[in-house]
Amino acid sequence: MDNTDTYLLNFEGYYLVRFTANTDLLKNLDDFEIRDNDVFIVTYPKSGTVWAQQILSSIYFEGHRNRTEMVETLDRVPFLEYNLLIPLQIIYIYRNPKNILVSYFHFSNMMAGLQAAEDIEDFMKMFFDGKVTGSLWFDHIRGWYEHRHDFNILSMMYEEMKKDLRSSVLKISSFLERQLNEEDVEAVMKQATFQNTKFDPQENYEQILKHDLGRTDEGSFLCKGTIGDWKHHLTVEQNERFDRIFQRKMKDFPLKFIWDLN
Ligand code: A3P
Repeated sequence: MDNTDTYLLNFEGYYLVRFTANTDLLKNLDDFEIRDNDVFIVTYPKSGTVWAQQILSSIYFEGHRNRTEMVETLDRVPFLEYNLLIPLQIIYIYRNPKNILVSYFHFSNMMAGLQAAEDIEDFMKMFFDGKVTGSLWFDHIRGWYEHRHDFNILSMMYEEMKKDLRSSVLKISSFLERQLNEEDVEAVMKQATFQNTKFDPQENYEQILKHDLGRTDEGSFLCKGTIGDWKHHLTVEQNERFDRIFQRKMKDFPLKFIWDLN
């Protein structure tokens, strides 16, 4: 059944979560003031948003990386319908869409504000129709690529962050023009390990799941945080179909992605 209207808010052709969309912001978008030193993290859902939020805030604030200030991730870095704004500095994170698909499928079944899918097949249809929050992944990635020279953008691939967290932290801190000494880098990395994010309630959005938006209080915002989990979830036929759609949609896309970095 297509419940698009129940779950999604179509704002200027882009789907937002109806339940949580910041309607005040949407109504007054022209009045939203962006300061020169604001930094926006831009991601398609399930590409590592929370991870990037965490790294960014612990680079900026000593109290976050040393855990002397206990602030939940959501309060450190607010969510905005950022694709509708024109920020100056952007950190754009992208991820293998097969991993996004699997992560998003589990996430949608966990969150009351998102349309649940019966199985991966069902979710794959929604994903390729762009009937999910964030709309079509292909449009998102093209939007970033087409505008890559318009703003000051640092692009990071989830898989590369996973492979080499240290270099990623250094790239982000240099983009933010924040000098970190060796001890600071170690502290940021310690905060940003998957184990820490998954099991620390301040980091893992557990409270939201329990009290606000979760369908049940079971489950976790984070599944495995890996780069090849789709192999355990997609059938051979689904994988081949995915590849065909990907090739068709991205055939004129100049950048070639190498997702599986071992
Ligand atoms: P999985 O569902 O594959 O585990 P977003 O924050 O954009 O919703 O992205 C969620 C994905 O980022 C989840 O993927 C989650 O596990 C992963 N993630 C979050 N923190 C991470 C970390 N510290 N290291 C690696 N992956 C992380």
